[in-house]
Amino acid sequence: MKAFRVLLAITFCVSTLVSGKDRNRPLEVYSPNHTIKVQLLLQQGVPFYNVQRNDQPVIANSRLGFSLKDIPALEKDFKVIASKPSSFDETWTQPWGEVKNIRNQYNSLTVVLQEQSGLKRKLQVEFRVYNDGIGFRYEIPQQPNLKDFVIMDELTEFAIARDMDAWWIPAYSDDMDSECLFHKNNVTALSQKMHTPLTLESNDLYLSIHEAALIDYASMTLFNNGNKTLKCDLVPWANGDRVVASAPMKTPWRTIQIADKPGDLITSYLILNLNEPNKLGDVSWIKPGKYNGIWWGMHIKTHTWEGGPNHGATTANMKEQIDFASKHHLSSVLAEGWNEGWEGDWTVSGNFNFTKPYPDYDIAEISRYAKSKNIGLIAHHETGGNIANYERQLEDAFKFCAQYDIHRLKTGYVNRRPAGERHQGQFMVRHYHKVMETAARYKVMLDVHEPIKDTGLRRTYPNMMTREGARGTEYEAWSDGNPPAHTTILPFTRCLGGPLDYTPGIFDIQFKTEGTFRVHTTLAKQLALYVVIYSPLQMAADLPKNYEGKPALKFIEDVPTDWEETRVLQAEIGKYVTIARKDRNSADWFLGSITNEDERVVDISLDFLSPGKKYIAEIYQDGVGADVTTNPLPLDILTQDVTKASVLKLKLAKGGGTAIRFHETN
Ligand code: NOJ
Repeated sequence: MKAFRVLLAITFCVSTLVSGKDRNRPLEVYSPNHTIKVQLLLQQGVPFYNVQRNDQPVIANSRLGFSLKDIPALEKDFKVIASKPSSFDETWTQPWGEVKNIRNQYNSLTVVLQEQSGLKRKLQVEFRVYNDGIGFRYEIPQQPNLKDFVIMDELTEFAIARDMDAWWIPAYSDDMDSECLFHKNNVTALSQKMHTPLTLESNDLYLSIHEAALIDYASMTLFNNGNKTLKCDLVPWANGDRVVASAPMKTPWRTIQIADKPGDLITSYLILNLNEPNKLGDVSWIKPGKYNGIWWGMHIKTHTWEGGPNHGATTANMKEQIDFASKHHLSSVLAEGWNEGWEGDWTVSGNFNFTKPYPDYDIAEISRYAKSKNIGLIAHHETGGNIANYERQLEDAFKFCAQYDIHRLKTGYVNRRPAGERHQGQFMVRHYHKVMETAARYKVMLDVHEPIKDTGLRRTYPNMMTREGARGTEYEAWSDGNPPAHTTILPFTRCLGGPLDYTPGIFDIQFKTEGTFRVHTTLAKQLALYVVIYSPLQMAADLPKNYEGKPALKFIEDVPTDWEETRVLQAEIGKYVTIARKDRNSADWFLGSITNEDERVVDISLDFLSPGKKYIAEIYQDGVGADVTTNPLPLDILTQDVTKASVLKLKLAKGGGTAIRFHETN
């Protein structure tokens, strides 16, 4: 990745000593466009911050600080001993992504606090204020009276200053972590611990609270502490400790994205900007792309992960998938259930062997065959959450990948975890980080299922490509499924953290298995999801036989996974969303528009297209009579000449969508 600096204006002001009555005056910092203001103030020595936009409160005075184990809390008796403002402005290039160039422009304020009596410990807070929100983090500097310590509580609050509704999923759910349907409630009615990104909406203000650069710390969840104040609740270790740390240390950034319209949350790159630049150097080996593989068959139970008569991952099945990938311009193929350990309840035992293929999976031959067709392999490491077993084999597992020229890996962490450890606690944060760094050493791109939350680390480690952490397509195979509204909420919530491997592309919507399971979209909406839900690795999830001969497959062949630009054209969270993206490697644009259970007509102005150019719009839309419940398959494919001046009227069926390729012709 080559970052180019448009302007770098760091103004290091000489640290100012704040003394006497100035101590009580708030310190403040504005966004570059002067619309957002953050203040830090002390009330009787207790630190608070607040946020305003256009002089209206967004976050009212909110606490900062920590409770520590066996020693006094770091929360009061402070004075400001120094403050340092600065500014930054650069434009950097993503090696791959939903947008190519990102402007990172902010004003910052670093405030050093020190206890006035007792241990006289120091605590530093850095605020970065962007035009699209704020980030702040704590730093505990090296100091004589605070060396090794345990954080028992982070006191950070977000006191919501307006009447707002929240889109939320529970933390510590009985279901697999983060794999939940979203709820919408007024902030005053929130009664559970919730995951972030937590998105809040009112008529003219949209906020999303999350974190950036979660490294060696516990994930932040939020709960309603009364009076519209959301409080940070760090996911604990098994013994109740929250974070084990040593000074000097920095916490992850606490982030608040601030927007007028929901779509502006999607095109805010604040989380990425708060992460460190690429640490991996040459990343030319990292390639976005589409994949297919041995997967859906196990979920709809026509195949098995474990060996036996219906074993999915056989050499023959893999060759069929490789042929399919090669014929339809996909770049790689996944095989799940290729390795020993799937017998019995693997979610309890997790005794997988990551270097031992089943006898009917001839890895050497498969690797040779894939290479001959220029198709990559995606290995699968389901750990069953047995972290000790996986870490013991980690190095060998990656050597095995290298031996067979495997540069893509899907990992999985279903269910079991070491005694009492929680999914998003510091223990697991450390584990996922270790796997990511190990993968980078072996030049392996990652797709993590049952991940911890995404906090933008892909900027620093571009091999961390995509992850699940949401209720994806698999739920359509064996549960009540995902109601049509689900995918109209994800882009404004879960996806604000980063790419989502939702695994779209099911054409056999009403597949016949023993249950009443089915997919809750029309066929056209399955196509639109490739544009709406961003992932640099995007699956064509259905069985090859369900694609063959289907004209709709052309859209999956054509749709890119690497974008120059992203625009959100229209959106209402939970109702509909229309996104246009420009291909990074051609002049083509693509559009995805999806709706919830209601049908609707949306007028789309094509003013995002280039001036003076002509395009053919290849439109894949819900056909006559299409309806998610009664008739999901009708699909019309039509073409139309369009220019930047055109307006398209899209008719979305109940639970439907439209997918369009705009192919430049001059
Ligand atoms: C859950 C993952 O999300 C899914 O993609 C995978 O097939 C199963 N676990 C088995 O590893």
